[in-house]
Amino acid sequence: HSVIGVDVIQSKVDAMNSGLATFHEPGLAELTAEAHRLNRLRATTSTTEAIAGTDISLVCVGTPSTAAGSLDLTFVEEATCAIATAIRAKSTPHHLIYRSTMLPGSTRGLVDAHLKDLVDEQRLQVLFYPEFLRQGTAVKDMIDPSLSVVGSYSPDDDISSVRRIFDSSTEQTDLESAELIKYACNAFHAAKIAFANEIGRVSKGIGVDAVNIMRVVCQDTRLNISPYYLRPGTPFGGSCLPKDVSALNQLSRAHALSTPMLDSLLASNEDHMDHLTEMVETAGSPRVLLLGLSFKEQTDDLRGSAAFELATRLLLKNYDVGIYDPLIVPANFTGAVGRIASLRLPNLTSLLKTDLAAAVGEKDTIVVFNRCADLAELAENLAPRHKIIDVASWPELARLSGSYTGICW
Ligand SMILES: NC(=O)c1ccc[n+]([C@@H]2O[C@H](COP(=O)([O-])OP(=O)(O)OC[C@H]3O[C@@H](n4cnc5c(N)ncnc54)[C@H](O)[C@@H]3O)[C@@H](O)[C@H]2O)c1
Repeated sequence: HSVIGVDVIQSKVDAMNSGLATFHEPGLAELTAEAHRLNRLRATTSTTEAIAGTDISLVCVGTPSTAAGSLDLTFVEEATCAIATAIRAKSTPHHLIYRSTMLPGSTRGLVDAHLKDLVDEQRLQVLFYPEFLRQGTAVKDMIDPSLSVVGSYSPDDDISSVRRIFDSSTEQTDLESAELIKYACNAFHAAKIAFANEIGRVSKGIGVDAVNIMRVVCQDTRLNISPYYLRPGTPFGGSCLPKDVSALNQLSRAHALSTPMLDSLLASNEDHMDHLTEMVETAGSPRVLLLGLSFKEQTDDLRGSAAFELATRLLLKNYDVGIYDPLIVPANFTGAVGRIASLRLPNLTSLLKTDLAAAVGEKDTIVVFNRCADLAELAENLAPRHKIIDVASWPELARLSGSYTGICW
């Protein structure tokens, strides 16, 4: 490829035109010098000149924080206006690929404000292609990206330009998803570092080796560093997570250690539970059926179950609650599960339904916690009046009669 760089700073343009990199990055000086020697790389302060001589523009200007901490799109706006003017002056089609990190809606907003006519006339294709490189390993990350996803303005946009130049396995999404994926990744990285630092402070506080602890934690790539718990849906529950997070919070307090992130986990889960409760209330009917009562699929354990918690909340508000979960047999309850059920849901037996058709027929709102019901039988018995709230991430439910909404989708 032949590349023309554009910057508003003359000294950066001059450096590139002399074959010099403008900042330190392993391998960059050599690459810049080689591209200059081959006459493949030059720079200018003129966007019009650069656009006239190229087919694809990558926008990677800064998107800093304002004094108030919000996103400042001034540089992207300025670059977009200059590019729009330059494209209007040329006759061949152009591809514009934003790489600057921008909040969801930013790219569409830029198109709608400055580029819509060019896109509609098919003189311009606009894509958002988040950049995942890290400083210090930028050249390596550029050649072998850890993730490649591109958002397109229209779902049927052809993204072969990105696949050809950068990564043949690039995934395609809408603009807003690609924009949010970049923030999700960076928030996740920040969360991992904050988590490791808090575990580190607890470790040091009790006299164990934090580095070794996190090294061992990272060895579990099935549950720890994996997609396993990384999906939106049910509030966390069960016999372990709430109890163990609570005990760890207690340990930090006992040692006067500050662990705000770990301390916020139960509150975050409670917020998610409140969000679900509000969704059921907003659905509007007092007749609610819960599909699934245990804390997760393939168990009859009710400890820490979000479905069980929702049932108790709704009953306190005088909702007419029914529960369908073939694995829940109160006569078989022993130990803690039996105690929780008799203390918090003493009338559980009368709420449990064994006939799915009759249970669905009696209720209007159906909250699905797991796939304990047969989809075909559900399909037969759901009517247009039913409102399905999906907590289990069961997309086939959206194709059944009634309205469908997911807890986070
Ligand atoms: N630095 C990273 O490691 C990294 C990684 C991934 C994503 N990003 C994102 O990439 C974007 C750029 O980051 P950066 O660290 O390279 O920023 P930077 O501020 O170091 O560089 C941006 C360059 O854009 C130039 N510029 C500003 N307005 C211009 C205009 N109208 N026309 C032409 N050039 C203009 C500036 O002069 C500057 O040289 C940001 O959105 C950032 O969040 C950065």
